[in-house]
Amino acid sequence: MPTETVYGLAGDLFRVEALGRIFDAKERPKFDPLIAHVAPPQGEAPSLEWLGRLGLVDTAALPPSERDGAERLIRAFWPGPLTIVLPKAPRVPDLATSGLATVGVRMPSHPVAQALIRAAGAPLAAPSANRFGRISPTTAGAVLEELGDRIDVILDGGPCSVGLESTIVAPDGVPGGGGWRLLRPGGTPAEEIERVLDAPLRRETDAARPEAPGQLESHYAPGKPLRVLAAPVAALDAANSGTALAAILRGHTRVGLLLMSRDDSATARLGALGVTAEAIVLSPTGDLAEAAAALFSALRRLDASPATLLLAEPPASDRGLGYAIADRLRRASAEKPRNGA
Ligand code: TXA
Ligand code: MG
Repeated sequence: MPTETVYGLAGDLFRVEALGRIFDAKERPKFDPLIAHVAPPQGEAPSLEWLGRLGLVDTAALPPSERDGAERLIRAFWPGPLTIVLPKAPRVPDLATSGLATVGVRMPSHPVAQALIRAAGAPLAAPSANRFGRISPTTAGAVLEELGDRIDVILDGGPCSVGLESTIVAPDGVPGGGGWRLLRPGGTPAEEIERVLDAPLRRETDAARPEAPGQLESHYAPGKPLRVLAAPVAALDAANSGTALAAILRGHTRVGLLLMSRDDSATARLGALGVTAEAIVLSPTGDLAEAAAALFSALRRLDASPATLLLAEPPASDRGLGYAIADRLRRASAEKPRNGA
């Protein structure tokens, strides 16, 4: 199903058989929990109490301070790209949550996703509709590439408007503290969440310890090596007459280039170093929301091009969506684990 973030592979959250088929189609390890997608009846507003009635969330297990935060987040950001991790109700199968006592819940804003959830009459588990470890699909065509031979139907809702997965937050577990932590940056900027909670989000930056289960360092990965540049191509070149670029290029003669904003001379600069570059401009004006929406399909296109190396400029800002874009680029460029496969 289409959502505003990325396409999801949807199945009835309460049917273990459906969940099993999701894990199989994606080749997803069972330690990686699924997000429950919800939509209240037409015209009704989502609330914590309603999540309890759905048999999804154990609201009694939430301390009052966290209950208040969750209510605020639901009111401010749903429907939209925010997943909230809450205590799970007994009815939620352990397979959905990888045995955790919590369940991640979000209400997508995409009208097709909402219609499908309402028609199903149950929350839908929906991981991104890609094979495990690969780039999330932001078009129906990308889903076809990823899972076409393994699934029955693709609902084409057009290109995803946000283009990055949802931001994931969870209560930070300090008893009575009422604080929240950021498990995955995404389509809802962390700063906006902090404004609504009126408190900073705890951000775990220790890459050795995955923040959320399944948040592996090497994720969203193209098949080709990707290097994130320390600065825009123009700045690199000006600072060191191309020597830094030459070091990165080492032997590659065809590269794919992700530009965060318009730079008419970037391909010529690489040409001067003997390199043929196919460049994709994510946003002509350097707009972060536009760049986020274009990121995954651009990576996919360059991955399918004749390039042997992909280069990406860093986002101009590490705030707002820039933080989430940098996170995805870092994971896409991480060394892939060697498993002999
Ligand atoms: O935007 C999105 O969230 C998309 C669309 C389809 O809605 N879905 C998505 O699902 O990104 P997926 O399966 O690719 O990512 C789910 C991630 C897990 O890898 C895990 O990191 C986190 O959500 N997660 C899910 N349940 C959790 C829980 N109970 N506690 C902590 N993290 C959880
Ligand atoms: Mg995913």
